Amino acid sequence: MNTIPFRIQTIEDYKNAYKASVDNPENFWDNIASNFIWKKKWSKTLEWEFISPQVKWFVGGELNITENCLDRHLEEKGNQVALIWEPNDPNEISLQYTYKELLSEVNKMANVLKGMGVQKGDRVCIYLPMIPELAFATLACARIGAIHSIVFAGFSSNAVADRINDAQCAFVLTSDGMNRGAKQIPVKSVVDEAMANCPTVQKVLVINRLNWNVHMDLHRDIWYHEAVNQVNDLCEATAMGSEDEMFILYTSGSTGKPKGVVHTCGGYMVYAGYTFANVFQYNPGDVFWCTADIGWVTGHSYILYGPLLQGATTVMFEGVPTFPDPGRFWQVIDKHSVNIFYTAPTAIRSLMASGVDHVLSYSLHSLKLLGSVGEPINEEAWHWYHTHIGKGKCPIVDTYWQTETGGVMISGMGGIHPQRPSYAGFPIPGIQLILVDADGNEIEGNGVEGNLCVKFPWPSILRTTYGDHERCRINYFATYKNLYFTGDGARREEDGMYRLLGRVDDVINVSGHRFGTAEIEDAINQCKKVIESAVVGYPHDIKGQGIYAYVILEHSENSNDQTRDEIIESVVEHIGKIAKPDKIQFVGGLPKTRSGKIMRRILRKVAEGEINSLGDTTTLLDPKVVDEIISSRL
Ligand code: PRX
Repeated sequence: MNTIPFRIQTIEDYKNAYKASVDNPENFWDNIASNFIWKKKWSKTLEWEFISPQVKWFVGGELNITENCLDRHLEEKGNQVALIWEPNDPNEISLQYTYKELLSEVNKMANVLKGMGVQKGDRVCIYLPMIPELAFATLACARIGAIHSIVFAGFSSNAVADRINDAQCAFVLTSDGMNRGAKQIPVKSVVDEAMANCPTVQKVLVINRLNWNVHMDLHRDIWYHEAVNQVNDLCEATAMGSEDEMFILYTSGSTGKPKGVVHTCGGYMVYAGYTFANVFQYNPGDVFWCTADIGWVTGHSYILYGPLLQGATTVMFEGVPTFPDPGRFWQVIDKHSVNIFYTAPTAIRSLMASGVDHVLSYSLHSLKLLGSVGEPINEEAWHWYHTHIGKGKCPIVDTYWQTETGGVMISGMGGIHPQRPSYAGFPIPGIQLILVDADGNEIEGNGVEGNLCVKFPWPSILRTTYGDHERCRINYFATYKNLYFTGDGARREEDGMYRLLGRVDDVINVSGHRFGTAEIEDAINQCKKVIESAVVGYPHDIKGQGIYAYVILEHSENSNDQTRDEIIESVVEHIGKIAKPDKIQFVGGLPKTRSGKIMRRILRKVAEGEINSLGDTTTLLDPKVVDEIISSRL
């Protein structure tokens, strides 16, 4: 049964939709947007220019995304399960919320937030593990028009504080602690540390996950389980303008400080709903599981908003793929009869390395479609995924997109397109891709490579970077005139299929997570013994890219394991464990041009072990540095 009006089901459908989206984008998106519930119809579909930049979709319209995610499904699907929560420990009971129950939980959370003083437009930092309250809180913010800024619960207190301060959040949501495999990790104390540097925060709402007796500041901290007893479960959805800010999500770029990508209400809703239905070929009744954390954009769009907009059943998993053993994902798939499974190549590679025995005890017969996101999926991982998880019968849909794009940009559309391992596929209708050379000239035709840009807005393109529109312009719209630049290189094959070739800027992708090399260097340089550092990515069997740091120390006698530990500690303290360098090489100097610029190309080659293809080094200030770096490489 296909009750989703804009579902593409065949190649012909795709071609027609794509053509319509280019011939008359306004008309195309008007039709799609009409399938959602609006409190007030928009008066103009699109206003845009890519110079300032300024993009507005569905101008004058009013809506609330949670009404589209929850209320509108009540009549037909009130008793259908909306959210399945699977805990870290397989022996703990999993929880299920029907659409009716989820709305009730969201409304209660919304009323607690209102009771704390949260108002439309306020920024709320959510620093929570993958517990149901994270879903309630995110949707509750959207319900009352507060702007959520979710910070992945693996970030350090410094990183949380930076993000809270950048967005001037007055409210923070957190938990006592969290489960992570066999470990229990403090969460509230991370927030407490951050609070010392966050003057704008008035209230902190604390969820009880582990029954820990954490420190509570009498004037600031509130237990959720106490506050929720004081409220009812009715909360009207606030009318939001299409272009009102909906959420901020921090992401790394090539400069030091992460930037707050801003998405707005109308366009984000339309694109998240449209892509979810089509990319995953979702059919009513399917159980969908995206293994990302809601702290990343994948979790925003494809654990919460996309699936709920389509009345789907979505799975949220608290744990890790390897606990209690590397069969956990496959056990959860059987347990909840998951039909569509969406994960990252890094997870596939790590489970592949644990051996196929962990898969064999599970039937996996419910699976219909597999997805991949975050980095290119290499051929070996693709074949393992296809053979052992999909049993050769499930299409694999690779999905290329970014925090800034809000939803998938390139994909195989749930197997509608031919599949080719390591190729992301074709542009989603509405996405007008263009490849350019270094000077911004279009590279036309097929069988070509270049820098990947987009020449026309789609509804969920980022609108700004919070508090600093100029940064948005410089980062995405200034490199090539009139184009949005992704920062990625790509190849367009003879048949028009796209293959992503990796970042062309100073951003590295570690286990599908983005870090600016400058951001990691800043953290390393905070270590007192360090004079200077340079970070590059190198191919890593599991993580895709590993972090390779070249470090100049104050005194060479410091080049020992203790210093290495101190450097790692500094990164953990300033960013979090996820950005720990894999390799640290102590060097006497860095390869610099006469103008003082580090030649990362050379450092990358050395880290990759390609020391015979370093290219021209004669322009270096001191070419001898390179010999020393090569001789002591790790
Ligand atoms: O380099 C691309 C890579 O991840 C970057 C976006 O990272 P982030 O904003 O954290 O979002 C990750 C999940 C949407 C891109 O610029 N990337 C993401 N997906 C793919 C990919 N590279 C190749 N293939 C993909 N499927």
